[in-house]
Amino acid sequence: MYGKEIKKVLISKDAIAKRVAELGAEISRDFKDESVTLVCTLRGACVFYADLARAIDTDLEMDFISVSSYGAGTSTTGEVKMIKDLSSPIQGKNVIIVEDIIDSGVTLSYLKKLLEAREPKSLKICSLLDKPSRRKVDFKGDYVGFEIENEYVVGYGLDYNQKMRHLPEVCVLSPEVYGG
Ligand code: IMP
Ligand code: MG
Repeated sequence: MYGKEIKKVLISKDAIAKRVAELGAEISRDFKDESVTLVCTLRGACVFYADLARAIDTDLEMDFISVSSYGAGTSTTGEVKMIKDLSSPIQGKNVIIVEDIIDSGVTLSYLKKLLEAREPKSLKICSLLDKPSRRKVDFKGDYVGFEIENEYVVGYGLDYNQKMRHLPEVCVLSPEVYGG
């Protein structure tokens, strides 16, 4: 199915589905009898978010936010810019930020600080992927799907220059594509 821009499939559809179900069950247990506001960070988390939301069995609200830390290419510029804010207030709510990947940690540290200032009842981070070796700021996710090596990945929501988000698996991009 994939062309030469894909080096290999890193995480299969089945492995993703199994892990998403586990994360959903864990969140459902942790927030049993509570309401949760599940926040999707656009655009990278959209596919994971849609699957995760349907694996959670509590009262749930969905909201969307978009910040950007990346220019074109494969490494962060260190700057974070608000593109689209949440639609509803989160004061007093249990908020879970859903992200595609924790890389340098810059984006999520910014988002966490921003949303904490709005005084939610609780604030947790759920990320499909984590690349701990790439941290520039100290940051830990509360729910993490998979820890991965320092390789640039695409698919299941993750992009390279806005392409390849629709691939159903998490794949490693060929180093020839980005010169890495
Ligand atoms: P951070 O601020 O460096 O942690 O960057 C997080 C954002 O960078 C993620 O939300 C992704 O959009 C993007 N990113 C980091 N690593 C990758 C990758 O391997 N593939 C695709 N996007 C990535
Ligand atoms: Mg992103």
